[in-house]
Amino acid sequence: MKKTLSVNGVIHEMELDPRTTLLDLLRETLDLTGTKKGCDHGQCGACTVHVDGKAVLSCLQLAATLDGNVTTIEGIGTEDAPHPIQEAFLKHDAYQCGFCTPGQIMSALSCINEGNAGASEEIKRTMSGNLCRCAAYKNILAAIESARDVMEAQK
Ligand code: FES
Ligand code: FES
Repeated sequence: MKKTLSVNGVIHEMELDPRTTLLDLLRETLDLTGTKKGCDHGQCGACTVHVDGKAVLSCLQLAATLDGNVTTIEGIGTEDAPHPIQEAFLKHDAYQCGFCTPGQIMSALSCINEGNAGASEEIKRTMSGNLCRCAAYKNILAAIESARDVMEAQK
């Protein structure tokens, strides 16, 4: 089927198999490999992207039925101009192998933007769908709290 999709502000027109997930479309068709495939079953959060600003598990989303603007980790900042949440992950050493990190960052950004980053327990609850096999949870929490303060100061 024919499909038109906006990803990171770029309009893509394509032919796709209706069974294609958004995750496979991003990684295999658009070559946006920052979004990771962990479990491929909605259990780990590694594939988290935003659709119209809301965090979505791209492994559970069929690309054909998608209606909205997709933002991936490649779309929130650049190497020269990183987003405050990306800077905070670097500053607080909030990763080890880095495999879960793009999904953690996209979930963290939505956690802050949606006003769920008040208390540490609230952040932990909101981020509970993002697993980290390296158990960098303490530093991820510190990074989110730090980015929240930076982003609030920038408002
Ligand atoms: Fe989507 Fe694990 S790859 S939740
Ligand atoms: Fe390795 Fe999270 S940094 S899985």
